[in-house]
Amino acid sequence: MELNYSKEVIENFLHPKNMGEIKNPDGFGSVGNKICGDVMNVYIKVKKDKSGKEILKDIKFKTFGCSAAIATSSMITQLAKGKTLEEAEKITRNDVAESLNGLPPIKMHCSNLASDGLREAIKDYRNKKLKNEKQDEKTTKEK
Ligand code: FES
Repeated sequence: MELNYSKEVIENFLHPKNMGEIKNPDGFGSVGNKICGDVMNVYIKVKKDKSGKEILKDIKFKTFGCSAAIATSSMITQLAKGKTLEEAEKITRNDVAESLNGLPPIKMHCSNLASDGLREAIKDYRNKKLKNEKQDEKTTKEK
């Protein structure tokens, strides 16, 4: 079956942006699609901006999957970089697909990997932060 991919999908598949790994990431997410077996790993670094809001300073991905999964991974990192965590969490699979000038309907599920992977990484960051805060509280009380 021939799939009609947009120019943007092909470009992001052939020359993906932000591909790779971040050593000691602040957050890490890994999601898989049970049906096709494709997997996306997302790494994020978070910092506070001038107003004290947490933003995505850096984001990288490693995706083991189809061409649409690679292209959507590349696109979500571009959409999310520099955004606040709240803004980044709101990026939907449709936003990703629209930014790629559409995906063939049979490939729409591939963009779930990208949006879910990013949300997992942010969740992991928040969980770690909460754990560290509890640890700090405990240490302060023990003193
Ligand atoms: Fe598995 Fe695209 S076919 S993510």
